[in-house]
Amino acid sequence: MLAHPQLCPQGLQFDARIGRKLVDELLRHGVAIEHACEKVCACSTCHVHLRQGGELVKAADDEEEDQLSDAWGLDGQSRLACCVRVRGPALVIELPKFSRNHAREK
Ligand code: FES
Repeated sequence: MLAHPQLCPQGLQFDARIGRKLVDELLRHGVAIEHACEKVCACSTCHVHLRQGGELVKAADDEEEDQLSDAWGLDGQSRLACCVRVRGPALVIELPKFSRNHAREK
């Protein structure tokens, strides 16, 4: 994972468990990525950019695309981390600077 000023200042490399949600693997490795809807594709706070490897995971479905449209900093490599299942190949992840969560929990 690429460095993020607040959530991962040094960047991070880890082995993710195959078949698990990317959001769970990030949380498991200490990255406090937001997940306001508790990982059910009903917000956009777990927005990530898959800078490498995105073509090797299952494409976003309509539900994910709908939620993504609310994400800050959307681009062609945007995904919701609760919708991406780890499939094995190396992913390079970048967290956006901001999210749309106005009531972040501690
Ligand atoms: S945690 Fe809400 S869409 Fe992923």
